[in-house]
Amino acid sequence: MPNSALAKLSRLRPFELLLPQDQILRRVSEMGDQISRDYAGSIPVLVGVLKGCVMFMADLMKALKLPVEVEFVAPASYREGVRSEDDLVLMGGFSSRLHGRHVLIVEGIVDSGRTVTLLVNRLRKLEPASIEVVTLLDKPGSHRVKVDVKYRGFSVGNDFVIGYGLDNTQQYRNLPFVGRLKER
Ligand code: IMP
Ligand code: MG
Repeated sequence: MPNSALAKLSRLRPFELLLPQDQILRRVSEMGDQISRDYAGSIPVLVGVLKGCVMFMADLMKALKLPVEVEFVAPASYREGVRSEDDLVLMGGFSSRLHGRHVLIVEGIVDSGRTVTLLVNRLRKLEPASIEVVTLLDKPGSHRVKVDVKYRGFSVGNDFVIGYGLDNTQQYRNLPFVGRLKER
């Protein structure tokens, strides 16, 4: 691709480092230990919320000393905001039956709390034995609904963060650390 086309494609805004990779991995390892203890003797189903969950899901899975099953869901659109449970597209359906299973929803970040709350309500209809939320990042100051996060990697402020799976206009997801966007 010519450089001009690349420059057009790339709408990168400057950012500053917020959470370095080693700090993230240490915390994910602790979360993995805690979840492994809490779910010992069971085979939980991890339900990752695409696309922001990808790096966290991959590292968290490796940190779990448990047999697990893995599913993914994709919210149809964040552009207009997810308004109803029906806006959550369940990618390809679930391979696992969630009925009677211990479900862990795996998110990259909880902001207003709407996505995760809608997902919990939707999945509850499938009558799992339990359902809890795991998120790498939480923005408690931005919650607009009451949301129950059982496992949280880090609480962050209201700034827009990117990297480690999280995007701004679909870019920055491949950064192996979390950064905070700055104004140009
Ligand atoms: P909600 O407001 O809790 O429903 O969050 C919806 C989605 O917005 C999250 O799953 C992320 O994909 C996205 N989001 C919210 N805050 C940020 C951020 O600071 N960086 C990147 N994505 C974000
Ligand atoms: Mg996004």
